[in-house]
Amino acid sequence: MTVHFIGAGPGAPDLLTLRGRDLIAACPVCLYAGSLVPEGVLAHCPPGARIVNTAPLSLDEIIAEIAAAHAEGKDVARLHSGDLSIWSAMGEQLRRLRALGIPFTVTPGVPSFSAAAAAIEAELTLPGLAQTVVLTRTPGRASAMPEGEKLSAFAATGAVLAIHLSIHLLDTVVAELTPHYGADCPVAIVWRASWPEQRIVRATLATLDAAVGSEMERTALILVGRTLGAADFDESRLYAADYDRRYRPVGVEPRFPEAS
Ligand SMILES: C[S@@+](CC[C@H](N)C(=O)[O-])C[C@H]1O[C@@H](n2cnc3c(N)ncnc32)[C@H](O)[C@@H]1O
Repeated sequence: MTVHFIGAGPGAPDLLTLRGRDLIAACPVCLYAGSLVPEGVLAHCPPGARIVNTAPLSLDEIIAEIAAAHAEGKDVARLHSGDLSIWSAMGEQLRRLRALGIPFTVTPGVPSFSAAAAAIEAELTLPGLAQTVVLTRTPGRASAMPEGEKLSAFAATGAVLAIHLSIHLLDTVVAELTPHYGADCPVAIVWRASWPEQRIVRATLATLDAAVGSEMERTALILVGRTLGAADFDESRLYAADYDRRYRPVGVEPRFPEAS
């Protein structure tokens, strides 16, 4: 018996990995994390599977579900939205399973920041403008931020910020970022990236408030940085005609004479 933790992706059912789909189809028990895992993903469960929404359950109750499946020798598909490496609460479940000696695997998923970047057709890292993306959030009721991880500290680097779980604090976000990025810095907000009801707002830090209006949907990603919508940036050296590289040696005496 094994518990398969599976990143269910940002919302669109076909943004699930093939491995994730096959594992879901092979497990007689499926535990999924609330409203962000779409029904289209659950449709891969085999007929007769026990399908449990864990949103209303405590950690103890979730582990009890897993322990019951373990006692019956039934594999479990454990679904969380996006990827499991960020804000999935997988860590605390793995710690319990290790203590109980219950085997598990981890299958990654498409994270929401990737889906949001795709929705606005953006490469977040552009030569000369930004080479770092910070995946972050603001403090919530359930999670305080460690002292060194203030938005303003990340903003001071000029990196692109992908701010999760924070749409309800938009005013605070704008106020903290404006001194560092400037009021004309581009911002994109993507609500429910990859879902049919996906909505995008592009603005600057100065115009964001008016552009967003009274949108109430909370599942949103805030992207901030100079690369958003930029047309004036350097081309990467990687594909430059005169750039000597192992897979494309150039020049009279290339450094990498044998392409392999
Ligand atoms: C609990 S976190 C889960 C993050 C997830 N593990 C991931 O890989 O993206 C939930 C937050 O992720 C972001 N999010 C998740 N799905 C999203 C989507 N489809 N579109 C925009 N933001 C999304 C929102 O900021 C939301 O508040």
